[in-house]
Amino acid sequence: MNNFGYYAPTRYIFGRDTEKETGHLTVENGMKKVLLTYGGGSVVRSGLLARVQESLKANGVEYVEFGGIHPNPTDDRVYEGIEIVRNNGIDGLIAVGGGSVIDTAKAIALGALYEGDFWDFYAGKAVPQRALPVGVILTIPAAGSEGSGNSVITRLDGLHKISLRTDSVLRPKFAILNPELTFTLPPFQTASGIADMMAHIMERYFSPTPDVSVTDHLCQGLLRSIIEVAPRVMADPEDYQARANIMWAGTMAHNGICGCGRVEDWVSHFMEHEISAVYGVTHGAGLAVVYPAFLMFMATHSPSKPAQFARTVFNITDSDDSVAARKGAEALRAFFGSLGLPLTFKQLGIENPDINLLVDKLIENKGEIIGGYYRLNRADMTAIYELMK
Ligand code: NZQ
Ligand code: ZN
Repeated sequence: MNNFGYYAPTRYIFGRDTEKETGHLTVENGMKKVLLTYGGGSVVRSGLLARVQESLKANGVEYVEFGGIHPNPTDDRVYEGIEIVRNNGIDGLIAVGGGSVIDTAKAIALGALYEGDFWDFYAGKAVPQRALPVGVILTIPAAGSEGSGNSVITRLDGLHKISLRTDSVLRPKFAILNPELTFTLPPFQTASGIADMMAHIMERYFSPTPDVSVTDHLCQGLLRSIIEVAPRVMADPEDYQARANIMWAGTMAHNGICGCGRVEDWVSHFMEHEISAVYGVTHGAGLAVVYPAFLMFMATHSPSKPAQFARTVFNITDSDDSVAARKGAEALRAFFGSLGLPLTFKQLGIENPDINLLVDKLIENKGEIIGGYYRLNRADMTAIYELMK
């Protein structure tokens, strides 16, 4: 096990009706006037936004609405939000929605206190030191942004989709997790969220670091639990207990606990971010295509950990590592298929993927050699993308 630091100061409030606590949690965190951020309208239609506004008003918190944030959020909305924050004396942000809304709020929170261009942080030209406080009311268990120190934004100029990772600066002050708020999710978004949270665990699990038994078992247990519960949420979107387990799993998957003490991988996310930046696909659906291909490649290049994954998560019994690893990749693919997720570029709606472009952008954004588990060069990256056809 490697040395590590783990600081995850987000306060989680979990359960039915918990959105009513928004107002007092906002006040508790020193916010008096907030930018109330949300997406394309699901929270308006469900009545959630109105309930959050009521709670803010009841606690004397003023707000300015900032809606219409779309999936795979872009830098133009961040610049717009920063201006509104600066011109209105806003001292915090409340994000009502999923990863796209939360990530935009985090970027605004960072940029509003920085004299330069907020993109400096994403381009690696500046290191985040401070940000306005952000509170979250989560509506989709998927990206894990409610507990992560990350924010993923796409720069429209050049379609660079970059994940900024901070230890603590960008972790929300509080995250309200009410499983009932996820009842309205369409099956495709539910399934994509499940693929994303599983990927967050696997990116940390596929590691070259030996003797990380505690973290390994945590990852394996979470994955098994998601696989066990997922069919229930797909069959009955209003199964509260199943939704509750999936929601908490999504947070645990990405709040850092699954990565303690080891090198992490993240190749599949890097590869997917290029696909969603160029083709605008749903992040989790993209990962359902990428991850089995990554594992299939590893079955021939570095099968030991994928074999452990296959045996512990999917009960594969083969003793040969390569065979077990390949069967694990097939089992994961079949599981994603059972949720109705796409399994190829074509099923993602990409008829003729430009693999050279994807690899060029990947190398431009992440370097010539990528990956914590196995070091991939250009030919390897190309081979993995080819497996997705
Ligand atoms: O915009 P609205 O109308 O709200 O609809 C959204 C959106 O169309 C809908 N939705 C959300 N909650 C709903 C709902 N529809 C009905 N009922 C509800 N309760 O779902 C759609 C997707 O929303 P989005 O916020 O985009 O989903 P997600 O949470 O999957 O976020 C994806 C973004 O997060 C990034 C991804 O790359 C992508 O840009 N990620 C962020 C991470 C982080 N900050 O730590 C890590 C992840 O790996 C990921 O890269
Ligand atoms: Zn993800």
